[in-house]
Formats: sequence, structure tokens, C-alpha cells
Amino acid sequence: MSDPLHAVSERFALAFATVAGRFADPIVRPSDHADAQINGALGVAKELGTNPRQVAEQVLEAAGDVSDICSSLEIAGPGFINVTLSNQFLSTQLKSVMSDQRLGVRVAPTRIMAAVDYSAPNVAKEMHVGHLRSTVIGDSIVRLLEFVGHTVIRENHIGDWGTPFGMLIEHLIDMGQDTAAQELGVGDLDNFYREARNKFDVDDAFKERARARVVLLQGGDTETLSLWRTLVSESTHYFNRVYQLLDVLLTDADIKGESSYNSLLGPVVERLRLAKLLETSDGADVVFPAGFNNRDGDPLPLIIRKGDGGYNYATSDLACVIDRTERLGASLLIYVVGAPQAQHLKMVEAVATQAGWLTPPAQMMHVAFGNVLGSDGKMLKSRVGDTVKLAALLEEAVERATVAIAQKNPEMAVDERSQVAHMIGIGAVKYSDLSTDRVKDYVFDWERMLSFDGNTAPYLQYAHARMCSIFRRAGVERISVRSVGPIIFDGREHTLAIRILQFDSAVWDALDKYSPHRLCTYLFELATDFTAFYEHCPVLKADTDEQRMSRLYLCDAAARVLECGLNLLGIRAPEQM
Ligand code: ARG
Repeated sequence: MSDPLHAVSERFALAFATVAGRFADPIVRPSDHADAQINGALGVAKELGTNPRQVAEQVLEAAGDVSDICSSLEIAGPGFINVTLSNQFLSTQLKSVMSDQRLGVRVAPTRIMAAVDYSAPNVAKEMHVGHLRSTVIGDSIVRLLEFVGHTVIRENHIGDWGTPFGMLIEHLIDMGQDTAAQELGVGDLDNFYREARNKFDVDDAFKERARARVVLLQGGDTETLSLWRTLVSESTHYFNRVYQLLDVLLTDADIKGESSYNSLLGPVVERLRLAKLLETSDGADVVFPAGFNNRDGDPLPLIIRKGDGGYNYATSDLACVIDRTERLGASLLIYVVGAPQAQHLKMVEAVATQAGWLTPPAQMMHVAFGNVLGSDGKMLKSRVGDTVKLAALLEEAVERATVAIAQKNPEMAVDERSQVAHMIGIGAVKYSDLSTDRVKDYVFDWERMLSFDGNTAPYLQYAHARMCSIFRRAGVERISVRSVGPIIFDGREHTLAIRILQFDSAVWDALDKYSPHRLCTYLFELATDFTAFYEHCPVLKADTDEQRMSRLYLCDAAARVLECGLNLLGIRAPEQM
């Protein structure tokens, strides 16, 4: 563990145990008054019925000589111990951490197979901002899991099956395949859906055709399937355009739509019946998982097969669980899905557990997220009031970033500018999504997300570009400073060194809670500490050669951590901007 606060905690654990007479957590926390504060004496004193300052004194005595890691220890207030870390210690730690390709980030103690269900837009429907959130958060979680050594299967559970496909296929026939393909190909998915829906609502003959078409589709009729495939492939074409713009890891190989679980739906029903979980309610096959009730206190059913024989969203999710645990052998099933589906997923989890398809250590994890709001505090809508087209939104981000970068750096060559603008524009959208606690709603705000100040992608990217540009100006290869050791002297060097060493904690903290915003906060603090260092500690004009090399070392170390951290968020770090 490279975090110096852990080193303090480890060093004081024995002293605390000696004083307390049993294991007692030293409780080491970051502090405004020192590098760290040891808070454990208060609890121990309470337990022993003594004075916390006295306990703190005893702890210091029991700890003995800790000068190899701490340069000063001070008892403060009601018995806190303020710790200042030794510069020499930080320097040695830094050198060892930076010689590691992983920058000190621990690999997982046990490696597992995780299936991450994310993005999951619906065929012949516009991807909405909720799908954007799922895509961006899911992609970062995949990167984090892989970085610590887990095997990840990406699963894009697109909505490509179900009753609406009857009307969609009939509409496709009415329009003519080529015209329809064109409309869908340019991403006018919502219009297509709306037209089909309108006809379905007002035209009884159309409605009949749509119904008959669903039967043909479910029966595997060749011509119907080929029409259905047109709908799917034109839509995935559009999704891919969005993924490409977004720079995410998803490819066609990751598509595992609802339709792909078709052959498993019958067996789901059979297995539930054999497990004696299936009941009939209002003509439908249902399961009543324990512990779920409606508002009146009546048991809540999970509908497996409707009265008309059709299967449900829940049925394919149960099939999914079986497929992921039994066929793929995954033990962690992550669902990056909006908060409104929490109950659905909880019920699926309960039924899968009762049926024996999800047994420990295998587990389901709902990584829920809130809504994206417009400046009016309501769900984000386009100017004309309908769903925002994601591709258009992302293109606008790049355009806005192009303007911003032209202002910031008018000298940059045009083709380089367009590359950098892409990284900044897309980075800004992704970061504004990732940097707020995912369970909360967030307001989509162009001005804020594209600002070069504050907790934004452009600020972090700019800090990184600055770190890189020092080397260009110095005429020094970054790699060449890595063999020197940093000399930590100034307070800002000290603070920056501690922050760099905390990368491991930040990555693990984000992963443990499936909360990329925690990594964002860390990277923002790193960039802030770097800025303070850079403004107060001359690098190119350092007093001595040794100091210059040492400061260049810190710049390189900070840049490596920042780049790696941004990469874990799926955000690029240009070297120049
Ligand atoms: N297609 C669904 C939607 O747009 C999300 C699917 C999420 N994944 C799942 N296994 N249910 O709401």
C-alpha cells in the first residue's frame, strides 16, 4: 500500500494495541492541521475511562522511534495526534512507487470474472442521456476492474426484442427497407418509432398486422427475421457512431441483446416450475419473491410469462443471470442501470437466488445512477422539447471545445487542434457525468463542463499538458529524470508527493464503491496540488541542477498519475493544448 497514511496506521497499530489491551484502529485521517491526524485515542480513552491526552501520550511512548516515517508528532486538542511525514520517507516511497508500472496500485487479492452490463440502449429508439450515463460510468468501471487484474466481460444488453417489434417491422415494410434504413441510418430513430406508434394507435388494420408480425417473429419466420435484422443493424450502426465519438471500449462483439436469450426463456420457466417457485396469478406465470410487497402490503409478483404467452423483461434478465453465472462463470454481475430499475433488479436477484442460479460468492450489484437535468432542473430535453440526440450532443461538445481551444491557444496547428478539441469536448461531457456522485442527478451545463477552471476535464487535461510542456521547454526526455531521486524540501513538494502516493487508495476507493467520482475528486486535488507546486517552486529556474532534476521528477510523476487516472475514467490526456 503506497498511501503514507496507511504506513502511519500500520506503524501505530501495535502501539494502540499495547495501550488498549486489544486491537484498536488508530483511525488515521487527512487533516487541515497536519499531513494526517491520528484520532484513535479518543475511543480508547472512553473505553478505559481515562483521559484521551494521556492515552495519546502513552501511544507515542509505546510507538517508540518512528522518525523514519514521521518528522514530527504533536498531541493536539482533546487527544488527537498530528503527524508530519518525513521528507526522506516520502522521497524513498515515491521512488519505489514510480518505478512500478502500476504506479503503486495494488492488484486484487483474488481475481474474479465480472460481467458488466452497461449502455444497453433500445433498438429503433434514440439513445437517451440515461444511456449516456450508463455507457460512461460502465466503461470506467470496466477499466478499473481490468486495471486491478479482474477479467471483465462487457455485455451490452440492448433492447432488441418484444412486442413493439411487430409494429416496427410493419412500418419498415410500409416505408420500404431502403428509405427506412436511411432514416434510421442518420440516427432519426425516435421519428421512426413515433410514426410506427402513431399508426398502431389509430389504424386498426395496422394494429392487426403488427400483432400477426410479432407471432411470425417469435416463430422464427425467415423473412420477418431478416426485416428485424435490418432494424437492429441500422440501430447498432448508430449506437456505434456514438460509442466511437465517446471513445468507449464497447464494440459489436459486446452486444448481447435481449433477443440472444430467446432459447433460454422456455428453460427459465421450466426451471422455476421444477423449483416450485412458479405460481399463476391473473392467468400469468409469476414468482412471488420473499420480502416484496406493494403499497397495500400484498405480495408483489415478478411476471415471468404473460397471459398471452409472451415473456417479459424480467424473464430475459433471469435468463441473463443463468447465462452469466453458469455459462460464462462470472461471479460478479454488475448492472449499470438507472435508479428507477432498482426494484426490478432486486426482484430478479431475489428470484435468481431462490432458484439457486445465484449462489455466493456470485453476486449481483446494481450500480444505479440519477438523471441528467437541463438548466431548468427538469429532465434534459432538446430545444424543441424532445429527446436529445446523443450523437448531436457529442458533436456539439467537440465544436464548443474547438472554439475554447482556439481562444486558449491560437497558435496550435489546425489538425492538431481538431484532435485536441475532440479529447477536450468528449472528455468534458464524460467528466461532468463521472465527477458527481452517480446516485445524484446532475445538471448538464456546457459552460461549467468546458471551463478550464474547477473540477472539470479541461482543467485536468490542461494540468497534464502543462506538466508535459515543461519537458519540451527544458529539452529533457521525461524518461531520463526517472533514475534520479526526488529531494522533497518545500511544503508544496511535500504535499504533492503525498498526493501522488495516494493514487492507490483513490483507485481502490473508487472501485470499492463503484464510484468513479471519487477518483475524479482525487485527480482534481492532484492537479490543484501540482498547480500550487508549479506556481511556487521554479522548475526550469531552480537554484541547483539537482533541484531542477528533482522537480522535473515530480512533474513527470504527477503527469503519469494524472494520465493513468484519466485513462481509468476513459478520458484522454493530450500532451499539448
Ligand atoms: N434497455 C434497458 C433500458 O433502456 C436497459 C437494460 C439494462 N440491462 C438489463 N440487464 N436489464 O432501460
